[in-house]
Amino acid sequence: MEILMSFCYSRCALVRRLLVGSLAITLSGASCLAQSPQNWEGDTTEARFVDNLLQKMTLEEKLGQMSQIPLNQKEDVSPDERILKGQVGSFLFITDAKEINRLQHLAVEKGRLHIPLIFGFDVIHGFRTIYPVPLALAASWDPAQAEEAQRMAAKEASAVGINWTFAPMVDIARDPRWGRIMEGAGEDPYLGSQMAAAQIRGFQGDKIGSPEHILACVKHFAGYGAAVGGRDYDSSSISDEELWNIYLPPFEAAVRAGSGSLMSAYMDLNGVPATGNRFLLHDVLREKWKFDGFVVSDWESVKSLTTHGFASGPQDAAVRAVNAGVDMEMTSHVFRDELAAAVKQGLVQQSTIDEAVRRILTAKYRLGLFTSPYVASSRAETELVTPEQRQSARKAAERSAVLLRNEGRLLPLSKSLTSIAVIGPLADSQADITGSWSLATHPADAVTVFEGIRKRFPSGTTINWAKGVEIERVQPSIFDPQYPSPKPVLKTDAERDAEFAHAIDLIKQSQVAVLVLGEAQTMSGERASRSTLTLPGRQQQLLEAAVATGKPIVLVLLNGRPLDITWASEHVPAILDAWYPGTEGGNAVADLLFGDANPGGKLPVSWPRSVGQVPIFYARTLTQIPNALDTRYWDGSSAPLYPFGYGLSYTTFKMDDLKTESISVKAGSKLAVSIELQNTGGAAGDQVVQLYTHQRSGTASRPTRELKAFRRVSLKPGEKQTVTFALDTNDLGFWSPQTHRWSIEPGPFDLWVGADSSATQHTTFTVLP
Ligand code: NOJ
Repeated sequence: MEILMSFCYSRCALVRRLLVGSLAITLSGASCLAQSPQNWEGDTTEARFVDNLLQKMTLEEKLGQMSQIPLNQKEDVSPDERILKGQVGSFLFITDAKEINRLQHLAVEKGRLHIPLIFGFDVIHGFRTIYPVPLALAASWDPAQAEEAQRMAAKEASAVGINWTFAPMVDIARDPRWGRIMEGAGEDPYLGSQMAAAQIRGFQGDKIGSPEHILACVKHFAGYGAAVGGRDYDSSSISDEELWNIYLPPFEAAVRAGSGSLMSAYMDLNGVPATGNRFLLHDVLREKWKFDGFVVSDWESVKSLTTHGFASGPQDAAVRAVNAGVDMEMTSHVFRDELAAAVKQGLVQQSTIDEAVRRILTAKYRLGLFTSPYVASSRAETELVTPEQRQSARKAAERSAVLLRNEGRLLPLSKSLTSIAVIGPLADSQADITGSWSLATHPADAVTVFEGIRKRFPSGTTINWAKGVEIERVQPSIFDPQYPSPKPVLKTDAERDAEFAHAIDLIKQSQVAVLVLGEAQTMSGERASRSTLTLPGRQQQLLEAAVATGKPIVLVLLNGRPLDITWASEHVPAILDAWYPGTEGGNAVADLLFGDANPGGKLPVSWPRSVGQVPIFYARTLTQIPNALDTRYWDGSSAPLYPFGYGLSYTTFKMDDLKTESISVKAGSKLAVSIELQNTGGAAGDQVVQLYTHQRSGTASRPTRELKAFRRVSLKPGEKQTVTFALDTNDLGFWSPQTHRWSIEPGPFDLWVGADSSATQHTTFTVLP
């Protein structure tokens, strides 16, 4: 059987494509041909193929397609039996190619209608090879980089038979207490939209079903990032104006880019749970955006409609979710258990069920699962953590890092140092450097910062390493069996003091110290919100003691959110934010520290001085006392520590001669805007040229600045370039709370171009009706 199957896996696709009937039957048996779409009543078009299939299905089989089961779910009926009975359409969290093929074989060869399963997994920033977390990819300000990272991730995931990722997460987040800020592109709808579309292209390729690509699932629709207090799963209250102008645009961009699926969010949006929210799932998604993919709920979020105090019980939950527009239920099984009766009682129309199933089958068809349901077993053996994957991950990590401070040009460090101290609880932790949502990685694959530095020096150089302090790993990872609930580190006070003193001694004995501090892997991500932003544990004390030695100190941050580094921003000469840089993070950080790569990333979020400032974002409106950005608190600044878009380089850049092609532009057309950019320093480097606008008046107050275009440009020392943007006036439109519609309102605009959101090169233009 095993032999027949693996032979069949590699041959089926080809055989089916050729459809040389007799040869096919000789090579792989009639069963291989049985699922060919061409076989379904000779009809090759997608819609007719799906309709034909739909007509043959019982209601129970239809509800099966609408059900997704997680790995290891304990039920009376085994997954195998469910497949054979047509009671399941999808699995999540299975990552073993053999098991995927085995289950697929049951569905395709033994199931009554031979309908393939779709296997989903959270490929958020890599599969086995981990790329920088999405917030870091956004910090590259390079959509092509985000696309490439997700293309590589898709390639690796598809090698084990995964067909579908639950990504990208495009929730705008303006509150770093929220642990899931690390999964998105930060605070800005324009940057977020660019990153959303890029990731869809990366996962899906030119079209759904492209070889070595997988189906994307844009999530969490919508408003999850506005959880009150930054507390994960709490409700969101978002005004219409913010919903349309800030939270929805990245979803729309993902839909326009062709996302094949979408996930409904957990929480209440303005009092109505997102998973039972017909306004979101039908009016906006289907009616307005014409989304033709399928909607999956988040984990148990259908059943949880009762927890919200919204649905009266399991059947009501199922009815409300499906009638709102959910097509597939993740993990809870009220669709499977309750909807048949609901249809009979007339609570749900048969056509609603048919429409949901049609969308799911269409996705399977587009993915090519009816013709090529299996993964070639050789791929999983040869395509994971390859040198090509590692090289790509290293480049992504280098392009994502943000240089926050570099006093006295401490960085890049000299390559002829003879003694370096690499200190900190995260300096040599393979699990932590990959960050949250690294579910399928093997920590042993990861290169730590200590290892990255150690490897590049000859044995004569002393690389001193010590943790200095422990981070109490109080936050367990909720999904990853590899990282079970952390055990408290049981050390006596004397042992802790000795460890601390040892680290400081090593710093004193070294020419320079690199402190690798931040948050442990499980401290950001899902269910990992925080009420403070300080460096956890005694890391701040360690940092202060290190600085007190008088040695040059470099702080490397590993983090999934902005942290409170206000003290460091005044006392530590060099700060490099590496985020969670992934499997090749240590090599990338070493390249950056020693000048083999030049940091060019920029912040995708405003970096607060302290937790008291959050939520904080640059695109605020000015009300009362103009230019009072810094005076809203009597006990401290209300300006961020580092503005949105900020990041330094080892070289310097000059921007001047800002021009628009004309002083006015008709609404709906484009305006050419140019600026001269020059690399005025001694190293090759990248600058992100950022364009912001402000509408001076309208039917609503408009933010002081809004990002409307950007480009990451690489220049050699002395090199100059004219950077030209075709500013699309369609991007200047907004949804007005007075007119209740989206429009481009004519009138005068300010325009700035520069290296961050405090850009000073300024001009004006007018949008004409
Ligand atoms: C819950 C999370 O909210 C969602 O983002 C994820 O995709 C699913 N679980 C599946 O792991």
